[in-house]
Amino acid sequence: MTAETQATAAASGAGATARFRENKTIAAGTSTERVNALAGRLIKAVNDVVLEEKVSYDEYNAFKAWLIRVGEDGEWPLFLDVWVEHSVEEVANANRHGSKGTIEGPYYIPDAPVQQSPATLPMHEDEPGSQLLFQGEVKGIAGEPLGGAMIEIWHADDLGFYSQFAPGLPEWNLRGAITTDDQGKFQINTIQPAPYQIPTDGACGALIAAAGWHAWRPAHLHLKVSAPGYRLITTQLYFEGDEHVADDIASAVKPELVLVPTRRADGEGLEVTYDFILDPHHQDSEIAVDSSRGPN
Ligand code: DHB
Ligand code: FE
Repeated sequence: MTAETQATAAASGAGATARFRENKTIAAGTSTERVNALAGRLIKAVNDVVLEEKVSYDEYNAFKAWLIRVGEDGEWPLFLDVWVEHSVEEVANANRHGSKGTIEGPYYIPDAPVQQSPATLPMHEDEPGSQLLFQGEVKGIAGEPLGGAMIEIWHADDLGFYSQFAPGLPEWNLRGAITTDDQGKFQINTIQPAPYQIPTDGACGALIAAAGWHAWRPAHLHLKVSAPGYRLITTQLYFEGDEHVADDIASAVKPELVLVPTRRADGEGLEVTYDFILDPHHQDSEIAVDSSRGPN
């Protein structure tokens, strides 16, 4: 057993919790009216389930014990990003015209080392997994090429582990920030990520087992793409033929984000092509309101 395979839910959950606290600014000053409306509806929704399903004291106490455990395992980021973030993303990106976004998940780390395209992500010399060339172009919605656009990319390794959240991996393994060339084009050499199983040994895993669900996400590349004057997009790309594309525990797959890999013409492994289309900033008042709410 390698160090990587000893990754535990508690360790990756604690890491995700610490990263969330470090990296996300929490909007202050949500109005009393809004808190009243949202907290009120959430509490009512839970009460409706209790009444409609005639929830017993045993079930209520099992729920209470489980909620306590989610906190103890540091799994609130994992729980929320798997079962709730997809709806938040749908609301945040409803008014985009360019590429589709999807969830960020718990494992983004800002300030990865910057490289110019063509680039190879930091990885072990003998990094396991098939080679993957990910290439394409970053454009605006009128088709204008965006030279110097920034593509932040992070993904799991061939065992499904993310650097900085599983032990024994180099700090920036399979993470990078790549700038496009003058024509807005990019080429990123990496390895094909493995399907990802959310940690099964913590509270989220206990829920999945108790409910008879599965813990899998399809293999995916995580991305944040940005250029001055354009709206940053947070998204993921998936691979056709992956058995969990139609069955993602995190409900984050969209058909537009599923790529068809082909054999690489000029070497070993696979290649996939995807063009990112960025929306302009402050295109209309709706977007101005939306951008004040968060980093998207
Ligand atoms: C989770 C992990 C991911 O890699 C992801 O993309 C989404 C969610 C999670 O464990 O919650
Ligand atoms: Fe992920």
